[in-house]
Amino acid sequence: MMERKLSEDYEEVPCDSANAVVEGCRLPVLMRSGAEYQMAEILSIKELAAMREYYVHFLDFNKRLDEWVDEKRLDPSKVFFPKKISPSRPSSPVAGDVPTLPLLATTSSTPSLNKKKKQGQKRPYDEIDRSSSQPPTPAPSPGPATPITLIKVEIKEEIPDLLSGGPATPAGQGAATTAGPRTTGSLMMHSNDDVVTRMKNIEMIELGKHRIKPWYFAPYPQELVHLPCIYICEFCLKYRKSAKALERHLLKCKLRHPPGNEIYRKNNISVFEIDGRKNKQYSQNLCLLAKLFLDHKTLYYDTDPFLFYVMTQLDNRGFHLVGYFSKEKESSEDYNVACILTLPPYQRKGFGKLLIEFSYELSKFEGKLGSPEKPLSDLGLLSYRSYWSHTILGILFTHKASGDQERPQITINEICELTSMKKEDVISTLQTLGVISYYKGGFVIVLTPEMGKNHEKSSRLTKIDPKHLHWTPKDWSKRAKW
Ligand code: ACO
Ligand code: ZN
Repeated sequence: MMERKLSEDYEEVPCDSANAVVEGCRLPVLMRSGAEYQMAEILSIKELAAMREYYVHFLDFNKRLDEWVDEKRLDPSKVFFPKKISPSRPSSPVAGDVPTLPLLATTSSTPSLNKKKKQGQKRPYDEIDRSSSQPPTPAPSPGPATPITLIKVEIKEEIPDLLSGGPATPAGQGAATTAGPRTTGSLMMHSNDDVVTRMKNIEMIELGKHRIKPWYFAPYPQELVHLPCIYICEFCLKYRKSAKALERHLLKCKLRHPPGNEIYRKNNISVFEIDGRKNKQYSQNLCLLAKLFLDHKTLYYDTDPFLFYVMTQLDNRGFHLVGYFSKEKESSEDYNVACILTLPPYQRKGFGKLLIEFSYELSKFEGKLGSPEKPLSDLGLLSYRSYWSHTILGILFTHKASGDQERPQITINEICELTSMKKEDVISTLQTLGVISYYKGGFVIVLTPEMGKNHEKSSRLTKIDPKHLHWTPKDWSKRAKW
């Protein structure tokens, strides 16, 4: 796809120096880790005293890796100009002071980028490490010679098109990339991207004891965005322009926990439910903070239709924000999560899956099936896949044959009822796990001893304990106004 884009819309033009590079060009840029060159697009250029800086987006990588680089990190020997501004096309408008350059034959492939890559060097730190997050190797299909099954759970019903890859819509990657933008406005696709909101605008935030580098644009007030750091009160989430100003705020701010009701507490983990209408300012500040780490989130002001479930960790200084998810009070599409976030200092410690588990516990209390709002981000998809797989395998491994059954049997609907997961998520997870086979005229789930071992190894220590959830769902449709 990227190769096609480069070859059709771009034209390679050799340049002697980075001075010829203009916005919109694509060329190899050394990644922050210093390990390798990757094709990147120049989104913006700024002139500093004696040098230029370039804001680059690495084509095959998430936007959170976008950054300002100096010219030493560019490889100007392989610059691709968009054909409409290519200096080799005399009829095209030439942007800026681009010198006229000799025309090279248009190459049809992506240039080799790895000539400077040193063997064994690490990928950038925040690039997704897929090796640790791949679904387990699919179980082999039971052929006549293959001994099968430690455990076989027969699926009782027909699953149309499951094996043929037909219309059973996976809510996994497919849904994540194809779902269109929705009208309630909590998530939005790239169509809304303009140059300003594509670029990170905030250098650093301080939140409690953490200094965190933002990943994406967030519309904090203009007078704050050019400062080296924005200081945020970790309890009420108000923002200040200096450490001094925050100190003054902390003398007055009495909050030591999020507003709203504490509906869950076990050990040091609590969850507070916050009504986006009743605690509007907190909810808006939370959305603004979350936007720094959520690429597609566009809701900041109209928080009324949402509830916010904020997870905290308690110590002697107070309840510290770990992460949250938002949820529409009424969802016509059975979404049980609109946006979900673990703050970066707490990521990869299991809090994301704990938040996801909490969202399904709420759905269980409501007696509903639920699913996260699409599109999912790359990290959102990884986390949901992992949670779904683990939850379903937990059920399958413990499911016993009943009565006179020779083997345990289960239906997809039973899995949905036990987990509160929607059918398409259950089916896509079973497909991703590669455990469904067709055997003697029916569907069977084949689980290997290896999968059992992996399942046990990946069990989480901290889980949501529903006994500690003190919550009664409200029927928002019966209320005059949210
Ligand atoms: N690279 C590789 N794997 C990762 C990474 C990473 N950077 N981050 C998380 N994972 C994997 C974990 O290894 C784990 O997989 P495993 O179960 O196979 O071990 C799984 O994802 C979940 O890990 P957790 O520690 O439970 O999740 P975490 O606390 O890191 O939170 C979350 C996950 C919420 C998606 C977080 O990455 C985040 O806030 N990202 C930014 C915001 C975002 O993208 N939110 C989702 C948007 S979609 C939506 O809102 C519906
Ligand atoms: Zn405060």
